[in-house]
Amino acid sequence: MTWQGSGGPGGATRAEQYADLHRALAGLLAGEQDFIANAANFAALVYHSLPDLNWAGCYILRGQELVLGPFQGRPACVRIAIGRGVCGTAAARRTSMLVPDVHEFPDHIVCDPLSRSELVVPLIKDGSLLGVFDLDSPLPGRFNEEDRAGMEMAARTLMAVYGP
Ligand code: SME
Repeated sequence: MTWQGSGGPGGATRAEQYADLHRALAGLLAGEQDFIANAANFAALVYHSLPDLNWAGCYILRGQELVLGPFQGRPACVRIAIGRGVCGTAAARRTSMLVPDVHEFPDHIVCDPLSRSELVVPLIKDGSLLGVFDLDSPLPGRFNEEDRAGMEMAARTLMAVYGP
């Protein structure tokens, strides 16, 4: 499957892809508050909804480091210190990180050498950082501001249903 900029699988635009993702997510998470279960389905839905990904998943905050959580893709690095790599930087800054070319990000942590671009969004519930959600692509420049906004909204939906 090839990413064509304005159109994804079946010619769907990013706007259409994210509209579908948000709709499916609302149904998938409805009535369930378990974080691991919801994060697992969230990762699976994202991985299978968006084109040209080779990894999508969570790193969960445990003390001063991020620990691998539910994901889709090849086995990945288990522990990432806060402030290290793209994921640890997103966690430290509590902002999303869009990296068009991971070779240009000096502290990038290589889990899969095929990954060329990356988008990481923080998972924040009531002001507390719970972890991050990471998307990797084998294509340079795969993610843009529309992806950032779409995934930030998806992360807010995941956080909204979690917990009491
Ligand atoms: N590349 C990430 C590490 C996580 S993997 O890509 C799944 C980073 O630099 O934080």
